[in-house]
Amino acid sequence: MLPNINPTTTKSWDTLLELAKKDTGDIKSLFQDTERFEKFSFKIDDLLFDFSKNNLSEEVFKNLITLTRECNLAEAVVLQFKGTKINETEDRAVLHTALRDLNRADENGNKVRAELEKIRTFSEKLLSGKWKGYSEKSITNIVNIGIGGSDLGPKMVTYALRDHWSTITPHFVSNVDAAQLLEELNGLNPETTLFIIASKTFTTQETMTNAESAKRWFLENGGNEQAIAKHFVAVSTNLEVVKSFGIDEKNMFVFWDWVGGRYSLWSAIGLSIACTAGYHCFEDLLKGAYKMDIHFRDASFEENIPIIAALIGIWYNNFLEYDSMAILPYDHRLRYLPSYLQQADMESNGKYVDRNGKNINYQSGPIVWGEPGTNGQHAFYQLIHQGTKIIPTEFIAFAKSGHHHTDHHEKLLANFFAQSKALLHGKTEKQVQSEMGENIREKLVPYKLFGGNRPSTSILIKELTPYNLGKLIAYYEHKIFTQGVIWNIFSYDQWGVELGKQLAKPILSEIKNTRNGDHDPSTHGLLNTYFDMRK
Ligand code: F6P
Repeated sequence: MLPNINPTTTKSWDTLLELAKKDTGDIKSLFQDTERFEKFSFKIDDLLFDFSKNNLSEEVFKNLITLTRECNLAEAVVLQFKGTKINETEDRAVLHTALRDLNRADENGNKVRAELEKIRTFSEKLLSGKWKGYSEKSITNIVNIGIGGSDLGPKMVTYALRDHWSTITPHFVSNVDAAQLLEELNGLNPETTLFIIASKTFTTQETMTNAESAKRWFLENGGNEQAIAKHFVAVSTNLEVVKSFGIDEKNMFVFWDWVGGRYSLWSAIGLSIACTAGYHCFEDLLKGAYKMDIHFRDASFEENIPIIAALIGIWYNNFLEYDSMAILPYDHRLRYLPSYLQQADMESNGKYVDRNGKNINYQSGPIVWGEPGTNGQHAFYQLIHQGTKIIPTEFIAFAKSGHHHTDHHEKLLANFFAQSKALLHGKTEKQVQSEMGENIREKLVPYKLFGGNRPSTSILIKELTPYNLGKLIAYYEHKIFTQGVIWNIFSYDQWGVELGKQLAKPILSEIKNTRNGDHDPSTHGLLNTYFDMRK
């Protein structure tokens, strides 16, 4: 069992509340310590995490570390790695770390290696053109049909590793809105297309609806029942339903109930990664994540990168009342990282019931959002710089680009460095006045001021390799886990997604029969209007 400690009953929580009352938000003055950068930036291989521009004094940091001790974080970490059923509400172990521990000497290790071998063989056949479609042509396009963790993780990584693609072009279909499926199928040839139906349960409405429509498209455009085996593979934990869908058992890739949906890109759910960037990239990704796992498991808390990030998040969320955080990758290849992290973080820690089944009286998971730089600068950065809300930001950039347009990359990085600097320093009245010079218009001065002292973390990575990407993603996973432990919630279930699904079922039947059921006046009115409008 996970430790069960209400964080607000700890001594350090009270001390942190007192420290928060005294907080002036003055990050700039923290740099009077000329060694602040050295003290609050940490390296793991080619990744530098600079936490120094956060509103974090040494005293606050010390108390946050005490909080981890009072909440028994160390014990929780051991339990997770050991495979104890810490997902208690679903009675499951949480072992995505076992998926990247390639030398693991137990039954799970054997299962993982066997499945990886299957992924290797299949992806190599596909990429080398040896896997033929029904008309003996090689496959050129794959369509991953899945949603949530069966889409966001593989899609994010596949696009991040765009530089490694060769013979296969990927497509991702998740929404039950057929517009997405139709858009992706447009221009595809069934003879050279392979569908990966990715679903842990193989019962998810969106995925099964899209999979059935994809099958129909395939059959109506030249394919036939016998050819399905060459054009449809499944990734799932549910063999029976996969078979009843019509997919051959030998074309099924498996994973296990101890892999949570949003933590599954490391399993066969990552098949699309291996089938585009190549199996070696997939394996490097796993190795990178493993490196971060070991760091998280073994490093002292004072130097533990995911734990430090988690504690800064708790300080902001629970004591300074900053309720969101922005993920700002300065790299087009990481454009799907914010939406991936929205699921990873918000589905894990967006909960108000603690491990005793009681409502909590403190904040849990933050709102996570973001966009790649520099696009966001011309959209919402105004609010981050001059808005009434404090938004902690996380900037990510790569020193080396994946292309030869040096000028573009230097401009991108100049913006990456400038933004966190601007957020920290702001602009004073004196600076504004001197910039305006003789043409000064006093009335405009207040609008041109920047208060500064806006917190940010910068993650600077040498280059976007699969190995480094694995570390980056695992960093977020462990950060989320750490926060869930301190908040005393169950991070690995997701009951909050069920109600909407449940209510949609009878409404679907009402929609199909043009019948309005027992609803509140608003839902009733909306449905009636819909029935009128669709006539
Ligand atoms: O509805 C939420 C969810 O259960 C996610 O947690 C999961 O990643 C997604 O649906 C997809 O589930 P499946 O892989 O079983 O189709």
